[in-house]
Amino acid sequence: ALVEKGEYRHFMEKEIHEQPDSVQHTLSHYLDFVNGKVKPGDTDFSKIDRIQIIACGTAFYAGQIGRYAFEKLAGLPCDVEIASEFRYRNPALTPGTLGVAVSQSGETADTLASLSWCKQKGLDTAALVNVHSSSMAREAGHLWPTHAGPEIGVASTKAFTAQVAALLALAVTAGVQRGTIDPTREAELVKALFEAPRLIAEAMQMEDALKDVAHELAKATDVLFLGRGSMFPLAMEGALKLKEISYIHAEGYAAGELKHGPIALVDELTPIVALAPLDDVYEKTASNLQEVAARGGPVIMIAPKSAPDPHGAGIRRVDAPECHTLIAPLVYAIPVQLLAYYTAVQKGTDVDQPRNLAKSVTVE
Ligand code: G6P
Repeated sequence: ALVEKGEYRHFMEKEIHEQPDSVQHTLSHYLDFVNGKVKPGDTDFSKIDRIQIIACGTAFYAGQIGRYAFEKLAGLPCDVEIASEFRYRNPALTPGTLGVAVSQSGETADTLASLSWCKQKGLDTAALVNVHSSSMAREAGHLWPTHAGPEIGVASTKAFTAQVAALLALAVTAGVQRGTIDPTREAELVKALFEAPRLIAEAMQMEDALKDVAHELAKATDVLFLGRGSMFPLAMEGALKLKEISYIHAEGYAAGELKHGPIALVDELTPIVALAPLDDVYEKTASNLQEVAARGGPVIMIAPKSAPDPHGAGIRRVDAPECHTLIAPLVYAIPVQLLAYYTAVQKGTDVDQPRNLAKSVTVE
């Protein structure tokens, strides 16, 4: 079927706004919202002792967010690697490892080859893919679908949040199956995920504030994105999005690692975007922001209103919805995408088809 832009200026803008629905559809595949329970699915997480996620680009960052969830919620060791490295380094994997390919298209050459390699080594495998008839879907032992619908914009948005949503739901499933999550906690976490589509829609209301920030970013030659926990991979995804479509150099860093190098880059011309939900490491992130603000870096802090103000001048706040920590990567993905989008619009780049990039890379 032909997909049209409708009222939107770009497919990317349309796809950003589709995320309450695409996340909802994806979560419904994995969760029983009526009874506040996970659905059993065809993967038994009590039978595996490690997960190896393999992916490229944006899917790699979704995988890293998944890793935090699998380890924290299910006590399940999880590694994540870029497919182009994984496939050539002869990784040492133990027999109880589940090899998981994460891919929008299901066709990325390096990811597909890595998945086949896991299979040849006798490992059980799963493919978390948006195209359910793809090569990876056929190759893997288990199909973990995302239901984002067709994604046209080269820079991934709704496929990314669908991958994150599926991985969070699967991590809860793994915790239930492995006995680290009891029925009360299961109900709490399923409810948190149930609220994600509504909070994603609420996050769209940050649009006007983010347009203003994008005006500033468009003048910069370098931008830093900071976060801790699952906000760290999201910071890297934010930097990737900005690079891809606005051609501005950006780096995503773990907030605590800043002092070990990148703080040397901080000056009044380098905007710092901080992803700071009110989680158990908020205070740590806030103190890192004081450090950069003290060095003259213009800080844009994306945080809920309830988060206490970090001391220090130069910190500009953009209010994010209050949300459960579990779904913060879904909610905070929205400002990250909108910032990249409006910065690119401001610069007048070809948002849906950025130079030198392809939607799906089926050659090495
Ligand atoms: C290309 C795209 C990226 C995407 C990556 C992986 O490089 O430009 O946006 O993240 O491939 O694609 P996949 O289909 O495997 O998720």
